[in-house]
Amino acid sequence: MSGRQLHLALSAGVGGVHQGAWRRPDSRTEQWGTPELVIALAQETEAAKFDAFFLSDISAPNRALTRVQAPYLYFEPLTAAVAIARATSHIGVIATASTTFHEPYNLARQVATLDHLSGGRAGWNAVTSSVGEQNFGRRPWPDHAGRYERAAEFLDVVEQLWDSWEQDAVRHDRAAGVFADIDKIHPIDHAGTHFAVAGPLNVRRTPQGRPVIVQAGSSPAGRDLAARHASMVFTAQRELAEAQQFYRDLKSRARGHGRPDTDVAILPGVSPIIGDSAADAEEIRESLLDLVDQPTATARLADQLGGIDLSDIGFNEPIPVERLPAAGDIERRRSRFQIFADLAREERWTVRQLVGLEVASYGHWRLVGTAEQVAAELERWFLARGADGFVLMPPYQGALTRFYQWVVPLLQDRGIFRREYEGRTLRDHLGVSYPANRWAS
Ligand SMILES: Cc1cc2nc3c(=O)[nH]c(=O)nc-3n(C[C@H](O)[C@H](O)[C@H](O)COP(=O)(O)O)c2cc1C
Repeated sequence: MSGRQLHLALSAGVGGVHQGAWRRPDSRTEQWGTPELVIALAQETEAAKFDAFFLSDISAPNRALTRVQAPYLYFEPLTAAVAIARATSHIGVIATASTTFHEPYNLARQVATLDHLSGGRAGWNAVTSSVGEQNFGRRPWPDHAGRYERAAEFLDVVEQLWDSWEQDAVRHDRAAGVFADIDKIHPIDHAGTHFAVAGPLNVRRTPQGRPVIVQAGSSPAGRDLAARHASMVFTAQRELAEAQQFYRDLKSRARGHGRPDTDVAILPGVSPIIGDSAADAEEIRESLLDLVDQPTATARLADQLGGIDLSDIGFNEPIPVERLPAAGDIERRRSRFQIFADLAREERWTVRQLVGLEVASYGHWRLVGTAEQVAAELERWFLARGADGFVLMPPYQGALTRFYQWVVPLLQDRGIFRREYEGRTLRDHLGVSYPANRWAS
């Protein structure tokens, strides 16, 4: 297959599904969160030749949302990833784990183990997290900048640990009685602001050398972290022009860190509703919105907008923009706040419109149309370098089936998506290089 190819990942995990989806008669909500469903979903995604199965995660349930919304999966991602890896053969398996709530040694070890158990298909989505601190006894909760500072050191330590065993460190020399060449297994002796880690890791070098790091935070601090360490970036972009700007910025930051920009694949999220006709797709969109609990959805929107009060604002009224805080005052989801605040300020969106965006796609790009329209739009963004691919966030299960059965063949016919896997590892699928071990001569 020639030419630049699209990369696709399926987002499965908390969030990513329309708040009303489970109430559809055909939702099979009773099976959500069972191991059988998770495995079947991963196998279907592999049959569609996706690059990766992506497990997002939040370390605490949202009480109000739990009353009205079914999480699609509620497993700890790294544990689930092992079961998925053993039930599939080619697809990459990406697990989310927070740099704020973990320790680098344990995490490096877990992800390295996943890389071995999957034969080189492991990815780690390194997030700084915007919620969940109540479960980790950490007071005070570090601010946005503090969380990114910790993340930068965290990732540096993890990469050092993954390099700590050289490729040929294990010798199996029975005659000489030497199992491993100890000169090729290196302590890291890291003593930093947040972590003190002697190393080396107790897992040998993995099939990918270093498992794939994915980054999902879009503020300048998040972009910089991605530019230094990530091979894949998950981002929320709603307009092509903004997506192009993000794409250019991230690629140039990667070059600034001495990396070829082809080593970072940029995948905005996309939430498609695919109809038999454009009118059918619109109808599905409206019917999903009717299944949403309005007070809960409005409260969540208010939270997304920096915790402003919307209780006195009618569902069809515009957001009172004078109540919006400055982006710099947002300590949690700053880049996501910006998306919602811009629509309120510049487009004068109503509560209903913004709730529609929030419950459908959490601020990610929404596509509503026929399979042909959806395929054409994805191709447009891809060719215009707004994206190297997409993280698919199907709003309800039927959208996923339609994407696999209707949209994937159209992308293949357009020559921009693989018909068969060509490599075996996640790095192969993403077309990113294998980093050299810093110790190798
Ligand atoms: C596309 C995207 C996906 C994210 N997914 C997760 C997630 O699964 N779990 C999590 O704890 N945080 C997640 N985050 C939150 C980030 O880790 C980060 O804490 C937050 O976005 C604030 O950083 P930012 O302003 O740089 O975006 C995600 C952020 C983005 C932009």
